[in-house]
This record gives sequence, C-alpha cells and structure tokens, in this order.
Amino acid sequence: MRHTTFRQLEVFEAIARLGSFTRAAEELFLTQPTISMQAKKLAETVGLPLFEQIGKKVFLTDAGRELHTTCREIFKHLSHFEMTAADLKGLKQGTLRLAVVTTAKYFAPRLLGPFCQQYPGIQVSLKVSNRERVLERLADNQDDLYILGQPPEELDAVAEPFLDNPLVVLAPAGHPLAGKKNIPLARLAQEPFLLREPGSGTRKALERLFADNELIIKMRMELGSNEAIKQAIVGGLGVSVLSRHTLALDAPMGQLAILDVAGFPIERQWYVVYPAGKQLSIVARTFLDYLKQAPKLTGDIFSSARSAAPNRRRTGRKPVAA
Ligand code: PGA
Repeated sequence: MRHTTFRQLEVFEAIARLGSFTRAAEELFLTQPTISMQAKKLAETVGLPLFEQIGKKVFLTDAGRELHTTCREIFKHLSHFEMTAADLKGLKQGTLRLAVVTTAKYFAPRLLGPFCQQYPGIQVSLKVSNRERVLERLADNQDDLYILGQPPEELDAVAEPFLDNPLVVLAPAGHPLAGKKNIPLARLAQEPFLLREPGSGTRKALERLFADNELIIKMRMELGSNEAIKQAIVGGLGVSVLSRHTLALDAPMGQLAILDVAGFPIERQWYVVYPAGKQLSIVARTFLDYLKQAPKLTGDIFSSARSAAPNRRRTGRKPVAA
C-alpha cells in the first residue's frame, strides 16, 4: 500500500460512500475515466477486488468494506489535524477583545498575565466600564467576551460562572458595629451609605437586597470608583458594600472592617458572557477554556481578603489584612 496515493483513497471513499462512479466523479470534479482508473490502480495495489458492479449499482467487497473503514479513520484523523493546525494558526495572530465591569479589574489582569505568556501571539484588548456600559457593548456585539457580576437579564446571552464574588459590608475599623455579630439588616440601614454610581452592578445588588427587605438606603455620597469608596470609608464618611475582591489591591490595610450583617456576604459569582448564537473565535474559545483555572490562578491575590472575613458567621471586627 506504500504507493497508494491520497487521491486514490479519496476517490475510493467517494465511490464507496455514494455507491456510484458517476456521482463520485461529480463530487470530486473529475471525469469518469479518471475515477475508474484511480479505483483500478488502487485495487491492483491492494491485490483484491474492491467493488462488484451489478447492473448500474456498485457494491463493496469484503476487502472494499475494510478499506472503507480504514479510509474513514484516516480522514477523521486528518480533519482533526486540520482543525488543530487552524487553531494554531489562529492563536498565533489572534486578538482577544474583553470588556469587563469595573470591579473585575481586581483579578482580570492577573488572569491575563499567564494567558498571554502561554499564548504569546494573542493580543488582548481590555475595556473596563461599569455594568451598564458593558451591557451596551454586549448588545452591540463589540467584543469577544464580557465579564459581569450577574448574567444579563435583558439580552439573550450565554453566561458561564467561573469565580465566586462575595459582596461584603465595609466600615472603618473603629466603627461601633465592627465586632458585633449577626447585625440585623434594618440596623445597617440606619448607617449613611457610600454608593457606587448608577449603572454599577455592585450598587444594583445592594439596592435589590434592600428593596427585597423593604428597606431604604440612606445615601451619603455617590462615588464612581471602588478605591474612592474605600478611602471615604476610612475617612469616616459612611459604610459601603463592595466585592471582597476590592480588598485584594490598594486596600487601606488595617483601617477597614468587614461587618457581620445578616444576609451578607451577598454570594455572587463572576460570569463570562457572550451573545447567544455568537460564533466564538478560536482565541475566545481558548480564553473560555482557560478561565476554568481562574479559582486556582487568583487564589493568592484573594487570600488576604478571604482571611479578613471567611464567612458571615465570623465576627466582623477584623481589620482587613494583618
Ligand atoms: P460594577 O459591577 O463594577 O459595575 O459594580 C460589578 C458586579 O456586577 O458585580
């Protein structure tokens, strides 16, 4: 079989599958004499007849059936290789367009570091905006993938959770409620609040919790960034609810306490999202797959934040980080 050509196998496979020399010739854009010649040469190489022609119909012999199975295997492996090669080509020159909500900036760049090292040919464009803006981009199909703290309700999209995102109540370390256990939500509602801007997912989650409990948030101030809120808390302007992940970087160490309030932490998750029906690029699929390792990859950045307040039953008077 060493002299068998790939073309001969292709011709044979078409005849066997279609049961006709004529149809095989049409499918392969070859003339019928060429088809017959190739099939004849192949049978000579094998040393056994591969077809029996009865009337106009072509039947496979036992040897033909065996060869047909072998051909299918060969073509399956080849097409798999073609896909792998295409993936490799794609990965070398691809761009990953990511749009993430503001709070995701505490872990997204950390996730991207090893990803870019692993796939040096991939360029990443990262847009950071609040939830509302990211949803607008999603509706316009402007990026490959989106990272949100809650799947979109208004749009038909695929959302895969990949990381926990607990929202906690933050107060200055010396706050009278710091250290108290299981503080009722109604008591927290008496405190002045520092809120993220409208359109923020964090703010929405807090508003929803208060609305579900028929409570009203006493807003003291609205600030457009998690950092500004943390500084304002330390400055004694009020309390706030933020993702525990915001404590991973730039936290005013030792000056913040996580309060132990009933209903907290609000257990959310980070979702990677894309519009339903979107044909994902190879690069985007690679990143989706890579996100499965997110809990492992982000473990060290969040460990200090975690040790500050492991769960809601623990006492709240714990300054953030040692
Ligand atoms: P945000 O979104 O940064 O817009 O508040 C975070 C979230 O949805 O959890």
